[in-house]
Amino acid sequence: MTFTAQIKNVTFPDIIYNSSGPRCTTPEELEALGNSESSAIMMKSCSPESRNGNPEPRYKEVELGSINSIGLANHGYQKYIEYAAELKQQFPNTPIIASIVGFSQEDFLLLVEAFQNEPSVDMLEVNLSCPNVVGKPQIAYDFEVSDELIAKIFTVPGDKPIGFKLPPYFDPVHTEMMANILKKYPVSFITCINSVGNTLIIDPETERPLIAPKGWLGGLGGDYVKPIALANVRMFYKLLGDRMTIIWCGGIKSGVDVFEHLLAGASLVQLGTVLWKEDVACFARIKREFYEYMEKKWYTDVKEIIGKLKEL
Ligand code: DHB
Repeated sequence: MTFTAQIKNVTFPDIIYNSSGPRCTTPEELEALGNSESSAIMMKSCSPESRNGNPEPRYKEVELGSINSIGLANHGYQKYIEYAAELKQQFPNTPIIASIVGFSQEDFLLLVEAFQNEPSVDMLEVNLSCPNVVGKPQIAYDFEVSDELIAKIFTVPGDKPIGFKLPPYFDPVHTEMMANILKKYPVSFITCINSVGNTLIIDPETERPLIAPKGWLGGLGGDYVKPIALANVRMFYKLLGDRMTIIWCGGIKSGVDVFEHLLAGASLVQLGTVLWKEDVACFARIKREFYEYMEKKWYTDVKEIIGKLKEL
C-alpha cells in the first residue's frame, strides 16, 4: 500500500513529513530527514539574516508534549538556498520545502522572491504564526495585516505552490475570517496549527518554569494540542477544502492520530514534538502504524477517508 499526495506540480511519495522547527535547522539534520522515511524535507523557518534565537533553556519535553521558545534560531535564508541545492542533488525525488518568516513585509517579499527563483526548492510555507519573538505578535491573529501581506506575496512572480502556516484559532468566527481572506488568493495549502503560543509549564519540584525566554512563556505542542489541531483542520476543511490542501500539524504521535486527521480533512500531516522526542525513526513507525490501521479497516486509498468524518 502506498499513499501519495499532490500539491500543484509537487508530488509527495507519501503523506507524512516533518514540521518546520524540530531537527531541520542544520545541513546534518536536513540530510538525516532526507535519509529517513519523511515524505518531504521541510526546512527550519528562516529569516533574512541568521539568528541565534532566544536564551537557553528554550525547549523542554514533558509527558504530554513540549514547550519551546527557540526564537527563530536559523542560519539566514541564503544558507537554506545552498542547503536546498545540495539536498536536491542527494534526494531528487523528495520535495524540499522552504519555511519563511520575516519581521516586515519587505522581509517576506524578499524571501518569497528568493525561494521562487531557486530551482531546488519545490514549495513555500509562509509562517504567519511564530509566537516566540518578543514584541512581535503572531501575524495571523491580525486579519487586516494578514490580508495585506498575503496580497503582496501573490504579486511576486513564480509558480511554486505557496501556503501559510496558521496559528490555532479558538473561535469559529476567527477561523471564518481567516478563511475569507485566504479565499481571495491562489493559496495552495494551509498548515494547521502552529504551536499554541505563550503557555506556561511549571515544575512543582523545582518550583520554577521550564523555559527561560519571553517571561517563561512558550509554544505548546504534543498531546496537549491534538484536539485543538483537529478542530482547526475540520473547520478549515469545511470552509476551504474544495480550494486548497489542508495539512495537519499538532499532536500526532501514532498512526491512528494520522487516520483521525485525515477523517477531519487533512491530506498530509507533519510531525513536530514526536520528531523532537524520537528523532527521524518516528516517520517509519508512524507510517507503518497508519498502514496497519488502514488495512484493519479495509481501506486501500487515503481518498476514501479524507474529510469523511461521519455525522453524529
Ligand atoms: C519558532 C517557533 C514557531 O512556532 C515558529 O512558527 C517559528 C519559529 C521558534 O521559536 O524558533
